[in-house]
Amino acid sequence: AIIMDGNGRWAQERGLPRLEGHRQGTENIRRVVSAFGKYGIKYLTLFAFSTENWNRPRPEVNGLFRLLAQVIDRETEDLHRREVRLKHVGRLDGISPRLAKRVKQAVELTKDNTGMTLSVAFNYGGRAEVLDAVRSLLSRGIPPADLDEDIFRRYLYTPDLPDPDLIIRTGGEVRVSNFLIWQAAYSEYYFTPTYWPDFGDEEIEKALLAYSQRQR
Ligand code: IPE
Ligand code: IPE
Ligand code: MG
Repeated sequence: AIIMDGNGRWAQERGLPRLEGHRQGTENIRRVVSAFGKYGIKYLTLFAFSTENWNRPRPEVNGLFRLLAQVIDRETEDLHRREVRLKHVGRLDGISPRLAKRVKQAVELTKDNTGMTLSVAFNYGGRAEVLDAVRSLLSRGIPPADLDEDIFRRYLYTPDLPDPDLIIRTGGEVRVSNFLIWQAAYSEYYFTPTYWPDFGDEEIEKALLAYSQRQR
């Protein structure tokens, strides 16, 4: 899984508006998906927009959602041809009904594909996910004594995704920022100062090499 961070600084250092960094960041997604595909990675989850990111200035939030809609429109057919199965991780309520519909269509179209499972976490927060799970457990009246980790997991947004083996964060910050907090209990982390738009083949190789040298 990847915390795609550093778009804003990438742009600022070039004297460009932050949104240009986000645009470059979305361009990078295609490259990274195909690079990880070549390594035979079956599950890739990308953190694209957190529940906390709503606190950003309105024009940036709107721009991010516009970009997301464009990526879905532009990439879905091609991903489908490449047998990629798309998933959304997060809350669909709160985002515009039009965008939510496009997301659902892309997920539906690709649901039987047998290649990589590409999950996009947007409007995602780990604490919100745990709370949503607790809420549905309570509403179903699950007896407290019956609850265990396997049952709890089924109420998360990702019941059919394996826990990530490796979580990469680009952009230099060394924190989790509320990403997959339950699922990452035993994940390896790899932090790189490289900004997300510059995270390419060489960086991927470095990250996978570092992971392969960890004692699991
Ligand atoms: C990551 O880039 C993209 C999102 C969080 C949507 P940032 O926008 O956080 O870039 P920096 O961290 O400000 O450089
Ligand atoms: C994490 O990046 C969220 C995403 C990459 C979508 P942020 O830039 O939002 O995280 P903080 O604010 O530095 O913790
Ligand atoms: Mg950031």
